[in-house]
Amino acid sequence: MEKQKTALITGGTKGIGYGIAQVLLENGWNIGITGSSENSVNSAMNKLSNSFGKDRIAGYICDVRDGEAQIATVDQLVGQFGGMDMLVANAGVGHFADIGEMTTEQWNEVIDVNLTGVFHSIKAGLGALKESKGFFITIASLAGTNFFARGAAYCASKFGLVGFTQAVMLDLREHGIRTSTIMPGSVATHFNGNQPGPKDDWKIQPEDIGQMVLQLYDMDPRTLPSKIEVRPSMPPKR
Ligand SMILES: NC(=O)c1ccc[n+]([C@@H]2O[C@H](COP(=O)([O-])OP(=O)(O)OC[C@H]3O[C@@H](n4cnc5c(N)ncnc54)[C@H](OP(=O)(O)O)[C@@H]3O)[C@@H](O)[C@H]2O)c1
Repeated sequence: MEKQKTALITGGTKGIGYGIAQVLLENGWNIGITGSSENSVNSAMNKLSNSFGKDRIAGYICDVRDGEAQIATVDQLVGQFGGMDMLVANAGVGHFADIGEMTTEQWNEVIDVNLTGVFHSIKAGLGALKESKGFFITIASLAGTNFFARGAAYCASKFGLVGFTQAVMLDLREHGIRTSTIMPGSVATHFNGNQPGPKDDWKIQPEDIGQMVLQLYDMDPRTLPSKIEVRPSMPPKR
C-alpha cells in the first residue's frame, strides 16, 4: 500500500491555506497547518478535526518571520508523520497605502512575512523535501506581475516572491524537488479584513486553489508548471 502523503501549509488557519488543507485531507493526506496565534490555530484545528478526525492533522503556532520556529515545526511534523512530501508557503499579509502614508512598520511586516518568511520556510523544509523528492509551492499573487497604486509593499513582496520561487525552482530540481508558484487573482478569504460572504461568490474559492495544489502534485513528475496565473473567469462587469 502506498504511504500516506504529508503536507505542511503555512498560514493554514483560514482562507487559501485552510482550503488547501481541506482538499488534501479529503484526499487522504496528513496535514500540518501553522498560524501566528493560539486562537486561530486552535479554532482551525477544531473545525478540521470535526470533519476529518484528529489523527491526520497537526497544528503549530509558528510565526513565519521566526526561522528557528519554522525549523522546529518541520521537525515536529516529520516526527509525527514520518516525512514531508509537500510544503505550501502560503502565509501572507497586506498593507495598502499611498507611499506617502505607508509606514516603515507596514513595509517591514509585508516584506518580512510574504518574502523573508518564505525564505525561512524553504530553509526549514529543504532536508525533508530532499528526502521525499517532494513539492514546494508558494502562493504569490497576480500582484507579482501586475502593479497598482497603493500596492508598493504588497507588489514588491509578490514580485520578489515570484522571482525567488523561480530561481529556487532551478536549484531544487537538481535535487528532484518540484517547485511551483501559484499567482491568484481575487480569492474569497479573510485577506485584508474581508469577511467572505455571498458578495464573494464570483471570486475563486479557497478550495479551488486546494484542487490546483493537488493536481500539481499528481502530475507526472517529468512535467512542471512552474508559474501559474489563476483568475476569476467571470468577474463582475465594471
Ligand atoms: N485573497 C486573495 O484574493 C489573494 C489573492 C492572491 C494571493 N493571496 C495570497 O494568499 C495567501 C493567503 O491569504 P488569504 O487570502 O488566504 O488570507 P487570510 O484569509 O487572511 O489568511 C492568511 C493566513 O496567513 C496566516 N498568517 C498571516 N501572518 C502570518 C505570520 N506572520 N505567521 C504565520 N501565519 C501568518 C494567517 O494565520 P493567523 O490568522 O493565525 O495569523 C492565515 O492563516 C497570502 O500570501 C496572500 O498574499 C491572496
